[in-house]
Amino acid sequence: MKETELMEPAATGPWPSPDETAKLRERYILPLPGPMYSKPLQIVKGRMQYVFDETGRRYLDAFAGVATVSIGHSHPHFVRKLSEQIGEYLHNPALYLHPSLPRYAERLIAKLKTANPALEACFFTNSGSEANELAALIAKNFTGSHEFVAMRHSYHGRTLMAMALTGQANWRHSMPYVYGVSFAPANYVYRKPDSMDARQFTQWCVGELEDAINASTSGKIAGFYAEPINGVGGVITPEPEYFPGAYEAIKRHGGLFIADEVQTGLGRTGRKFLGIEQWGVKPDIVTMAKGLGNGYPIGAVVTTREIAAAVKGKLHYNTFGGSPAQMAAASAVLDVFDSENLSENAHQVGGYLLGALGKLAERSGCIGEVRGKGLMIGLELVKDKKSKEPAPELALKILDACKERGVLIGKGGMAGNVLRVKPPLCITRQDADAVVAALSESIAGL
Ligand SMILES: Cc1ncc(COP(=O)(O)O)c(C=O)c1O
Repeated sequence: MKETELMEPAATGPWPSPDETAKLRERYILPLPGPMYSKPLQIVKGRMQYVFDETGRRYLDAFAGVATVSIGHSHPHFVRKLSEQIGEYLHNPALYLHPSLPRYAERLIAKLKTANPALEACFFTNSGSEANELAALIAKNFTGSHEFVAMRHSYHGRTLMAMALTGQANWRHSMPYVYGVSFAPANYVYRKPDSMDARQFTQWCVGELEDAINASTSGKIAGFYAEPINGVGGVITPEPEYFPGAYEAIKRHGGLFIADEVQTGLGRTGRKFLGIEQWGVKPDIVTMAKGLGNGYPIGAVVTTREIAAAVKGKLHYNTFGGSPAQMAAASAVLDVFDSENLSENAHQVGGYLLGALGKLAERSGCIGEVRGKGLMIGLELVKDKKSKEPAPELALKILDACKERGVLIGKGGMAGNVLRVKPPLCITRQDADAVVAALSESIAGL
């Protein structure tokens, strides 16, 4: 049996019922919106693109633990390398040397050469939020400005700075945020005014970005945060001209271009390592997390030597970032990413899936748009294709129905009406067919 062949889950239980776990969770965890689905799902095992509930039922994981599992749940090479390292030496504070840190940094930097050959200085964090927080600190030190522009509908994480950069009311608690963040419109072509075509709307968005800088900042900014294709906000996929135009505007005002690649990095958009490469823009700072560790906590900030020099000699530290275990996990991810040619797979299977979902949209009255690139796909649900009124209640029903058919997908968007399909990068065409069949049957059964 090949290592990656699928096995039925071992009976490592006995497991509590989902109800019992839900009650215990309710008792001890902060009362925030919790598990999805009208009947919560309990997952106790993962193998590659599949997960299993406590009864051993298998589901195709087309949401990858929120776009996080990149090479596959518990990929055998990943498990072996991580276990070996944990058995040997797990935690090394930055006070002492360990070769895994610079070696992995060298490998990651080599992957970013095509995006910007000057990206040569790394720092490792525990999460995407922390990476975005540090990127802001670096940009402020380098530019001497504290003002940023972010995009409406964006999501950059949960620290105070990351929340301040997030352009969605439902992710903002009412409190004083970090000062100095202004917002520019997303290049959300599906919801553009009828009076403009896509090209005019894109030019308008770039103009509005510059207007936001002129009207709401001192005119000299520290940087612009961009998700190359947005994630939580509903997979809003810009026109190819948007980011090159935005880049020029940012540069006219002294800002750094910060690509938040937490979801789009590690080949998810197909063929390119970073999502921003799809748009031909050279980022000054890149932040990554999620897929880098295939579920093991890691974030990364990568910038140029020139920019990094701005924090030279200043203290900055985190306890866990860059640990030998983190580096082993992330190196194993890169091994598999290369040996299994996963960004090509994301391109091939993603293109196939996008095509099939596009056809499904033509047949169904409730899918207003299918968009994305590679294995970063969104389906915007509407009550009526003409009025485009969002249909968040349909999204909930379809998620439930797909789960009953053994396929897990996610949702997002400001109105909660965008289905998100972001599977592990190892899925096959047969899996893609299973996603389309589950969606098609679920919509037919509404
Ligand atoms: C684009 C983007 N940036 C930042 C984050 C925050 O990452 P983390 O949850 O690891 O803090 C996320 C998380 O979903 C994200 O999608």
